[in-house]
Amino acid sequence: MACCCIYHGWKFAVDGTVLDTPNVTDPRFKERIKGRTYPVREAGGLLWAYLGPQGEEPPFPHWGFMDQPDAHRINASAIVNCNFVQVMEGLVDSSHLTVLHGSALARTNDSDLDYAKKTSHMQFDASPKIEADETDFGFHYVAIRETDGKRIARVTAFATPCFIANANGDVWLAIVPVNDERCNFYHVWWDAEKPIGEEPLRSAQLTFVGLDEPTLRKYGMTADTCDSPAAMSVANGFGQDRAKQRDGHFTGLDSITQEDAACSISSGTIRDRSQEMLSTADLAISRLQRTLLACARAERDQKEIPALRAEGGRAVGVSAEIAVDEDWRRLVPHHQIVSSTGARA
Ligand SMILES: [Fe+2]
Repeated sequence: MACCCIYHGWKFAVDGTVLDTPNVTDPRFKERIKGRTYPVREAGGLLWAYLGPQGEEPPFPHWGFMDQPDAHRINASAIVNCNFVQVMEGLVDSSHLTVLHGSALARTNDSDLDYAKKTSHMQFDASPKIEADETDFGFHYVAIRETDGKRIARVTAFATPCFIANANGDVWLAIVPVNDERCNFYHVWWDAEKPIGEEPLRSAQLTFVGLDEPTLRKYGMTADTCDSPAAMSVANGFGQDRAKQRDGHFTGLDSITQEDAACSISSGTIRDRSQEMLSTADLAISRLQRTLLACARAERDQKEIPALRAEGGRAVGVSAEIAVDEDWRRLVPHHQIVSSTGARA
């Protein structure tokens, strides 16, 4: 396989070798030059590219969903018009689920979707107990809710630099910058038992969370609509339906994906953090910021980022009932605590 530049007709092999230079007749010329190339792999329904320096590629990550056939996996993505860190902060912020997604979660009471059953209890207890540990790959954090005499722990994993294993245990997320003011928000669901990648399960899942094509286009969250008037902004009120709110819907937005995006975008495309005030509910967000700053400083100082070479399989999202005196860390048996930012600098 080769590719050809339409400008002067130069032909390149996939490893960058120059095969032909029609406008330079000296045959030795092409032997002195080589095109820049980046390794790309396909796994879990995604294309993975390594864009760093040659010879320094970290081990290829392995996530559980990569072992599932297409029929047992759902891949979906949305464009969000703000800095990628803001989207990630929402994903490690458990307490907003009870408030922002209150109306969406109320729909889980009548739904047979596994996703609905796993998230229904989050309608209750808007102030879960939050704890977080920095680990070799990034951090685990837990939100513990007390509901109907039960103590439910939801553990989420953040893996450097932009991957999140959701506490539901069957949802994986990657938040990849397009530029400083836009990101691609990738979702993967998997189920070893059910063919969730096939209809009608696939559409039911995507529609429930607002990742179906019509809803994404309605809010300007696809590649061909993210620059259109549909894209959420002050001008269009972020797509909130005030009549729907008057009828009792908390946000007036279609589903969870749109509610998260509206909050991420409305705080500023790149949020002004100079006046930011974090609370105890934001413990995991502070861990995220600390982890990312450590990565940025390591890159600036041309030091290795150890988390990129962490052994795979430790970053796990899981949710379960635990006893009153039980340590949530038993849910993540490979959990390894590292000593704060000093260990990764
Ligand atoms: Fe959310």
